Amino acid sequence: MSKSTDEIRQTFLNFFHTKGHQIISSSSLIPDNDPTMLFTNAGMVQFKNVFIGQDRCDYKRVTTSQRCVRAGGKHNDLENVGYTARHHTFFEMLGNFSFGDYFKKEAISYAWELLTSNQWFNLPKERLWITVYENDDETLGIWKNNIGVATDRIICIGNNKGDAYSSDNFWQMGDTGPCGPCTEIFYNHGDDISKNPLSVSEDNRDQCIEIWNIVFIQFNRHPDGSMTLLKKPSIDTGMGLERLAAVLQNVHSNYEIDLFKKLINRIKKIIGLDDDFHSQSLYVIADHIRSCAFLIADGVIPSNAYRGYVLRRIIRRAVRHGNKIGIKETFFYRFITPLIEVMDHVANNIKYKQVYIENILKEEEEQFSKILTRGLVILDEKLSNLTNNTVDGQTVFDLYDTFGFPMDLTEEICRERNLKIDKNGFEIAMKQQRQRAYRAENIFKANYNNTICIDIESNFKGYEQLNVDSTVQAIFVNCQKVHQIFSGQNAVVFLNETPFYSESSGQIGDTGILIGNNTEFNVENTQKYNKAIGHIGQLKTGNLCIGDHINAQVNEVRRKCISLNHSATHLLHTALREVLGEHVVQKGSLINDKYLRFDFFHFEALTPQQICNIENIVNKQIRYNLKVKNEIVNFDIAKKKGAIALFGEKYDQYVRLLTIGNFSSELCTGTHVMRTGEIGLFFIQSESSVAMKVRRIEAFTGEIALEQVHFQKRQIQDVMRLVKANQSNFKEKICSMLDYLRTLEKELKEFQEQHVIRESIVLSKKAVELKSTKLLVSKLEDVKPTMLRNIMDKLKAQLGSAIIVLAIVSKGKISLIAGITPDLTKKIQAIDLINELVKKVGGKGGGRPDIAQAGGGMNIQALGNALSSVHTWVNNRL
Ligand code: SER
Repeated sequence: MSKSTDEIRQTFLNFFHTKGHQIISSSSLIPDNDPTMLFTNAGMVQFKNVFIGQDRCDYKRVTTSQRCVRAGGKHNDLENVGYTARHHTFFEMLGNFSFGDYFKKEAISYAWELLTSNQWFNLPKERLWITVYENDDETLGIWKNNIGVATDRIICIGNNKGDAYSSDNFWQMGDTGPCGPCTEIFYNHGDDISKNPLSVSEDNRDQCIEIWNIVFIQFNRHPDGSMTLLKKPSIDTGMGLERLAAVLQNVHSNYEIDLFKKLINRIKKIIGLDDDFHSQSLYVIADHIRSCAFLIADGVIPSNAYRGYVLRRIIRRAVRHGNKIGIKETFFYRFITPLIEVMDHVANNIKYKQVYIENILKEEEEQFSKILTRGLVILDEKLSNLTNNTVDGQTVFDLYDTFGFPMDLTEEICRERNLKIDKNGFEIAMKQQRQRAYRAENIFKANYNNTICIDIESNFKGYEQLNVDSTVQAIFVNCQKVHQIFSGQNAVVFLNETPFYSESSGQIGDTGILIGNNTEFNVENTQKYNKAIGHIGQLKTGNLCIGDHINAQVNEVRRKCISLNHSATHLLHTALREVLGEHVVQKGSLINDKYLRFDFFHFEALTPQQICNIENIVNKQIRYNLKVKNEIVNFDIAKKKGAIALFGEKYDQYVRLLTIGNFSSELCTGTHVMRTGEIGLFFIQSESSVAMKVRRIEAFTGEIALEQVHFQKRQIQDVMRLVKANQSNFKEKICSMLDYLRTLEKELKEFQEQHVIRESIVLSKKAVELKSTKLLVSKLEDVKPTMLRNIMDKLKAQLGSAIIVLAIVSKGKISLIAGITPDLTKKIQAIDLINELVKKVGGKGGGRPDIAQAGGGMNIQALGNALSSVHTWVNNRL
């Protein structure tokens, strides 16, 4: 009986455990140590900074089974899914890593032993092929001499991708970061086992597939393309679990392994499909539900930018395939339950957030389904009218813009009919939108090598003490290490022990002072640099040298206020879940000494009643004066106990668990109160929207909350005084004043209306005859500029056929209006008449042939003559 996928994963980890490797959990799909990366696309991503010496790992040898997504970005397999037997958007990568410990020889020997030994996977050696980076003679020698692989089964591959160090056998994580030559192991599934990876044609690539990549991490690549040699060469290996399972289960496609078989069968059952004709679409759907579920669980939400857009593309592709095989109702979200069943061992993240994930998928599918059918009809029409075999870029863009068809979706539909799309044309049409959608990407191109590199570990004492005697270990000025600083200099100072909390978990860094003999360093902020805590600030007096003894003192009052806000944030988080539901997930937070800000996932604005309930729950916990407990526990145990862990955070094996009575339990490294009573009062100041489905609460605690209550009370008292009311009749009084105001407004409007009618009747009588046309030019008194238009309309109606010019002077400025009845606009245009007057009295005019206005003219002396000149001007044109 062949091993199940779960057993294979476990066997791999066990094997490396017996070789002294620590088993470490998979990290999030959102890399927390590299903003240049879209998604975690390999097992080594969580160790990237360890490889380049910017971070330290507690172990020299580790092994993982890492969840990965390869869609978008440098390693993108999205378009291949459904077309090959070996590609996925989501997959698990098995890996073993050495951080400056063993190197080529051991890495190769371990791989060979695990794959071929009859104690382990026992694969037939004759089906294995090896590739090596050209000129890497050492690796070639190890395969030949130490392992005993025949020379004709080893293929050397040079720079076959254009540039230097651009090769199938030179691995790079992204455009920057750790990289190095690699050696790969291939497995030949086919009947002809003499076929090597290079001799199979593109169409038969599934026959001889790469199963294991062993990378010799030797360089760090920089944004300008240059590479520096790393001090400690390391090992990074990666083997796709699904590919290995296919080999060991003797099937020729990843989609036929136990995991996918079960998942696809459950999917077929749910949608009532009992034939096998639709396997390609089922593969796509089964693959995509995995990436979508894990991406959402790790904090991605569908959107039009960056990570969210990749997720949206995957969901839409799955929905289209569902549509293609005839599914009529919303379906995709229903596959989360079977997914949890088949991936039970690694699906904890999804289990906890099942409802949340289902809601997001459902909403996204419903939104897309509304336009999908119509979009498909339009595309069908276009395709049937096509005169060549390429769909133009504008059509592809219109489908994207109007129907939300990502370009690759249109491309895929066309590919199914042997048609192409004009990608360049699409890019041109799309340029503007793309700039918007990808603007975030530029932010992610920062050069992270330009920071302080420090390899010491600071001992944080600030949970218990706010004042610690310590020694200066390092000083940096402008990211450069220095031995000493002088009064007035800005610097970052590192100590062996410190009570200063460095910014993390949303909590801002501490401020305070470092005091030595005749020396005072003002700490304005505290930040973490790898494992070292940096005190950022300015030396106020004296000199400060490495080795100096100082007393580090945190600003206590400020820290206390921060701690109140941090503990209150935990209470708020739990209260939100109680009032709104378990789907509430933290999306971000800011905790400082003034207030707390908490962003969370929720579908709609909170009602005043919900806000009130939340405040009540939190304040009740404050009155209970609950004990706040902070302890180090094993991560898995904390999660089992139901502690809230945050998206995107990377947790070590041992974590800090913060519990507040029996009310809240959350992983957190922040600083907190001892008992909730210290918070005193919790007051929600505002609730608003920050992004689609992300709400924000801002709240105060302690004295500031009380001040806020007083402030609001004072404001109400001021208003009461102004409206001459008291507590009991205040609301009615304001309501009746507003009613009164509305009545007055109405009466004023009626009065003005009457005034306009009266004024226009009097004025119409002043019209003179000019070449049998009526001309009325008048300067009005007691009329507001806003009434001019109204009077003009009335006059036009009364005079029937006329040329009218009205003027008023109000607050030192002239307002003019000219009106011409439609029968005369061929001869005379109101806009010309107004422009003529503007020339004389100043201001700015605008309008149409039948009506034009001008305002702002200040030459009041010239107004009389200007109005008189209208007679001649009109006469000349009639
Ligand atoms: N980083 C390499 C890969 O992804 C080996 O883990 O193939």
